[in-house]
Amino acid sequence: MSDSIRNIVILTGAGISAESGIDTFRDGGGLWEQHRVEDVATPEGFARDPALVQRFYDARREAVQKVEPNAAHRALAELDAEWEGDLLIVTQNVDDLHERAGAKRVLHMHGELLSALCASCGQRHKWSEPLVGSPACPDCGAEALRPDVVWFGEMPYEMDRIYEELRRADLFVSIGTSGAVYPAAGFVRDAREFGAHTLELNLQRSEGSYWFDETRKGRASELVPEWVAEVLG
Ligand code: OAD
Repeated sequence: MSDSIRNIVILTGAGISAESGIDTFRDGGGLWEQHRVEDVATPEGFARDPALVQRFYDARREAVQKVEPNAAHRALAELDAEWEGDLLIVTQNVDDLHERAGAKRVLHMHGELLSALCASCGQRHKWSEPLVGSPACPDCGAEALRPDVVWFGEMPYEMDRIYEELRRADLFVSIGTSGAVYPAAGFVRDAREFGAHTLELNLQRSEGSYWFDETRKGRASELVPEWVAEVLG
């Protein structure tokens, strides 16, 4: 890997957690074939049928606590521990597998399953239990906790920080994401414009593949450890 690389931004998506046993969204049999996005991933769907939405995320919260990080998460955690330059893992994933593998520099732009957001006072709370049944917010007492997950039509978390890191990045790597959802799908173009080398690691070419300097096709559990070994030399 070139000596000129110091700052790295890594974008991860559902594909990196697939081999841990978490369904992706858009692959055959994925979550969006099983559920309508409008019903379970929009503020309007939640207003219409809160219990349905709470049950959907309660089931996913329970499931995520039963799976383990895979070799791809572990390799990124090793890179995070060893890399002396700036590094940020921006994940679209709402699971905690990057952290459980040991990664520290992780930003959850689409929120977290193991967190609850109070719609009344705005506080975020670590949360591993069901939300159906309307437990009270530990801060304000309102029975207004919702999944701390960014729905369609809502603003992802920490966009200013992400763009700041993209601006300074020498290398942008996208792992296991279809490139179908903005703003994350646009990061490759932003990173390029700011002068970064861009690399995609994915099972198949993503929708934004054209924008990458290099695409490597395969399973994250194989490609990511190989790439990390290259980078750490
Ligand atoms: P998708 O389901 O859209 O895409 C997953 C990608 O991972 C696909 O391109 C697969 O080919 C690839 N893939 C599957 N298994 C893989 C493996 N073992 N190794 C490597 N790649 C693999 O998931 P995302 O791109 O993460 O947003 O979806 C983006 C957003 O859409 C999600 O964060 C979620 C969803 O709607 C919100 O809920 C706001």
